[in-house]
This record gives sequence, structure tokens and C-alpha cells, in this order.
Amino acid sequence: MFARVLVAVAVAVVGGRGVLAHEDHDHDHTPAVGWPDALYLPTPFPDRICLSITADAAHEIAVTWRTEPATEASRLEIAVAEGGPDFVGKAVRREGTSTLLTTDLGVARYHEARASGLEPATRYLYRVGDGEHWSEWCQTETSAAEAKPFVFVYFGDAQNDVRSHWSRVVRNAFRDAPRAAFFLHAGDLINRAESDREWGEWFEASGFIHRTIPALATPGNHEMARGDDGGRRLSHHWRPTFAFPEQGPEGLAETCYAIDYQGARFISLNSNEQVAEQTQWLADVLSDDSPTWKIVTFHHPIFSSAKGRDNQQLREAWQPLFDRLGVDLVLQGHDHTYARSPRLTFQPGSLEEVNVAVGRQRQQSDTGTVYVVSVSGPKMYDLEPQPVMATWATRTQLYQVISVEPDRLSYRALNAIGDVHDAFRLERAADGSTSLINDVEQPDTP
Ligand SMILES: [Fe+2]
Repeated sequence: MFARVLVAVAVAVVGGRGVLAHEDHDHDHTPAVGWPDALYLPTPFPDRICLSITADAAHEIAVTWRTEPATEASRLEIAVAEGGPDFVGKAVRREGTSTLLTTDLGVARYHEARASGLEPATRYLYRVGDGEHWSEWCQTETSAAEAKPFVFVYFGDAQNDVRSHWSRVVRNAFRDAPRAAFFLHAGDLINRAESDREWGEWFEASGFIHRTIPALATPGNHEMARGDDGGRRLSHHWRPTFAFPEQGPEGLAETCYAIDYQGARFISLNSNEQVAEQTQWLADVLSDDSPTWKIVTFHHPIFSSAKGRDNQQLREAWQPLFDRLGVDLVLQGHDHTYARSPRLTFQPGSLEEVNVAVGRQRQQSDTGTVYVVSVSGPKMYDLEPQPVMATWATRTQLYQVISVEPDRLSYRALNAIGDVHDAFRLERAADGSTSLINDVEQPDTP
């Protein structure tokens, strides 16, 4: 403890901000391992550097980062990657924009810059800074412009003790899928929407990973805060922290969006608000000329896996559309358990009624969508196995490595130490029909 206080004082003095770290006395939220608040303060050097998935990943990258407020310039330098240091002279500069963010720890400046007109399937090196204080050169890669096999990783809620307990999960995912196209986060990245320390822990846990692999994230209920009008609104951190597409309905920029990536369409829906507007938008987005695979992510599961929870309204709003439009896979969070469904089509009624219907039809589930709930952080809820679940897990932190090929989607759920817990494939036949093949033994139907 004495050493920690010394470090805090040293940082506060060296940083010249006159801010002493204070201990967090909220025992519900105190990280099991944590730094003094002073170590989460911004400096002139870029930190919290994050690539976000863009709507044109073949030709564009988008980067966000943070500095202290006085750092006003937002510069991105980028060059085609080379094996030696001579790329530096070929780097071009792009000017970005910035915005001040007042957090519970003070004021920070968040920067955003884009490089467009890039070549598809090409490795680039980029750095960000103000012209004097620079990040390291970070390597990333644009997507191919056509359908081509790729891998991505999906995480359920990280949320709690992110530094202490989520770091090993995201790092093992990187060890298993170091060339992933992106890491997908299905909401509740952190626990308290406006806690600067918790956003700092998220970046500390993921380290350099999102400097090289873009994030694709959808907001959970823990990214929502109480607004001045008493209602719920998106965390002030969300939009400065990421640079997601803004093509969704008004009021849902960077939370409701769609991207096409090498033959698959990914859609983020914001299950916290404006469900009706998104239902209409979804019908428009998915009904145009869609790529082979359709994968949707949002936070609140339409087939709840935790005991005594149901989201019937969301299910009735969105599942008929998923059926009509042929969505293959839905990736969710919120219930702090793991559950993966067989292929399901819409059944009206409560979850109990759906379970009865699914229990009867179990053997004929050769159409419909696979629904997954997962959790990557340490907070756990009780689970009750139900017919809408093909398989499940309790008290297990997981990450999912999903590989996408033109005629096959291969899914693996791995626990925090990298052991395979669940695996299946969706195989697309020449006539467009799809079949699900389980690659691990299934538990008995409840
Ligand atoms: Fe959660």
C-alpha cells in the first residue's frame, strides 16, 4: 500500500497536475488489482489508441486516441509496411479532429483520424500524435475487396475486474487468433458507463491489440448512463473512444451500423433504445443485395440464458426479421453465462411457450438462426438449461474464434485457458441451403 501511495504521489508531482490519487472506497466496484487514479490521467503522449472497424475496411482505417487537453493537433502518419525502417520517409500525413471529454477524473482530449484511399489486402504501418509526441508505429491490414476467408473473435461482457480478470481472456484470444480481422465486443465492456478508470482498465487489458486489430463493438446497458432528463443515454466515452460507422437511424450513430467484410455482413444493433426505428432500418439494410453470411450483434439476448430473465418484446420485434432475411448467427451478451441455441425460427409467446414449441420440434431445426450468449469477464449468473439451448456453460469465461469462408462458417467457443468448450459449423450448399454440424458432443436435452 505504501509503495502504491508513493507511486501515486510521484506521478502526480511529475505530471505537474497537482492531483493526488484517492482510493476507491466503493467495495462493489473496487478492482481486485488496480492502479491509483493518477495513473489513468492523460499525458501529451497518445494512449487508448484504438482502430475501429469502418464501412470500407478494404480502403480505409479509422483510429482514435487520447491525450491531455492541451494537445490540440491530431495527426496520423501512414505508409505501406516494409520489413525495415525505410518506410518512414514514404509516410503520408492525415489531419484528424479532436474533442474534449470531461470525465470523473478530469478533462481529456480525444482524437480521431482516418486514412482513406488505401489498397485492399495490404499491410500498413501508422502512428498517431501531435507532431512531437508520437505513438509507436503500429501495423494493421486492410481487408480484401472480395469474399475471402477470414477469422474474427467475439466476446460477451468483460465488464468487471477488467484489468485483473479480463486481460488474460483478451490476450489468449490474441494468441489464438493473432491475424483476426477484428475483435467483436457484444456490450458491457465496462461496468460504470462514465468511469474513466474502467475505460482505462479496458485499454490496459487489451494493450496493443486494438492498435493492430480493429474493434467492432455494440453498447450494453452498462454503457448507458443517467441523463440530465432522468432517462438513459449513451456514455459520453463511447463516441470519442471509437469511430464506428454512423449510417444507422438518427440518434444511434456508432451504435447501430452495418459493415460488409470479405463476404459477410455484420450488423450492430443498439438493444438499449429506439428498437422500433432499428427494426425498420434493419429491414432496409438486410433486404438489399446482401453478402453470403449475415451476422448480427446486440447486447440483450432474445433467448435469455440466465434464470428468470426474458426479453420477449425484443424477440417479437427482431426475430421474425432475422428469419425473413436469413440471418445466420446472432452474438449477444448480458446474461453472464454461456448458451448456444440450435437453429431457431420465430415462435410467439413467452420463453416458456417457446421452449415447449422448440422441445417438440428439436429434430427438425434445419432452418433459422443460431443464437449465442457469452461472457468473457468474471461476473457470473445462474443458468437454467432449456430446450432453446443446444449447449451451455456456467461460471466459465469464454471467447469465440469464428472463421468465415464462402461456403462454411466455423465456430469455436474457448474458455479462458484456451480449451474448446463448444464448436459447430454452418455449411452452405450449392443450392443456398444451410446445415448445422455440431463438432462437440451435445449435452442431454432438458
Ligand atoms: Fe453485463
